[in-house]
Amino acid sequence: MKNIVHNYDDSSWAPTGKGALTHDVEPVLETGGVLCFPKLPFVLSDAEKRFLDTSVSDGKAKNISLRGVNDELRGAQGSAEDQAALRAMILRFRSQAESFAERLFPHYKGQLQRGNTSYRPMAVEGRVTSWRKDDTRLHVDAFPSNPTRGTRLLRVFTNLNPRGEPRRWRVGEPFEAFAKRFVPKIPKPLPGSAALLHALHVTKARRTAYDHYMLQLHDRGKADMDWQRSAPQAEVNFAPGTTWVVFSDQVLHAAMGGQFMMEQTFYLPPAGLKQPASAPLAVLERMLGTPLLA
Ligand SMILES: [Fe+2]
Repeated sequence: MKNIVHNYDDSSWAPTGKGALTHDVEPVLETGGVLCFPKLPFVLSDAEKRFLDTSVSDGKAKNISLRGVNDELRGAQGSAEDQAALRAMILRFRSQAESFAERLFPHYKGQLQRGNTSYRPMAVEGRVTSWRKDDTRLHVDAFPSNPTRGTRLLRVFTNLNPRGEPRRWRVGEPFEAFAKRFVPKIPKPLPGSAALLHALHVTKARRTAYDHYMLQLHDRGKADMDWQRSAPQAEVNFAPGTTWVVFSDQVLHAAMGGQFMMEQTFYLPPAGLKQPASAPLAVLERMLGTPLLA
């Protein structure tokens, strides 16, 4: 398996200046690379270190996140003052992740749309869930209620663990090899089903054929335990203080362990890509010989 993780020495989130070393790495990301920055921590103030505790979570949501136009804090508990400070910390991560993404990917300028920002204080280990939601199985991100219609999912993560524990991932084979294995078994979308799911509000937008195939790949990959074991894969440990960037709809990944992480999602419309021929959309269209955004 070719090397998926590419290390860079950056020590700054800023657009320019000391430690702001890496620029123009769209091709690495778009061909399925994980950009890894082992010297790029998200620095907490002494006061913020009290949030490195599971008691900040309300115990219901998996993550603490900012939602809606007013960036309301969701999934947290504590005094109003604590919640305001936690919200400010998450907002600071968002703004650093945004300026970082603008520097790394100048080609996406004006195209990257801000998605969710989250703080994940809970341990990956011991989470009980259904096989479909089990992210310790290799998968590419695809969500049943949120059709992307070809829009890419770009994610920035930082491990905050205060006890030296890495975020442990497995990464898998290139998207094309994965798709070749499962696509021939996937039935075509049923005529009318996308319109029906949308009318019933099962999906937030109309599912395209692309979304159908991506969701099927997500599910069939997770359901196939032989493939989970035997597929080409590598373990990757992201030490505390490491930031990594990935197209999570392209790179096969599984979260095996770790606790305390920040995450920023961006959306990128397909037209914003530098080399669209490497995207899952183009790979699937070539494989199936038909346009998939209809
Ligand atoms: Fe995922």
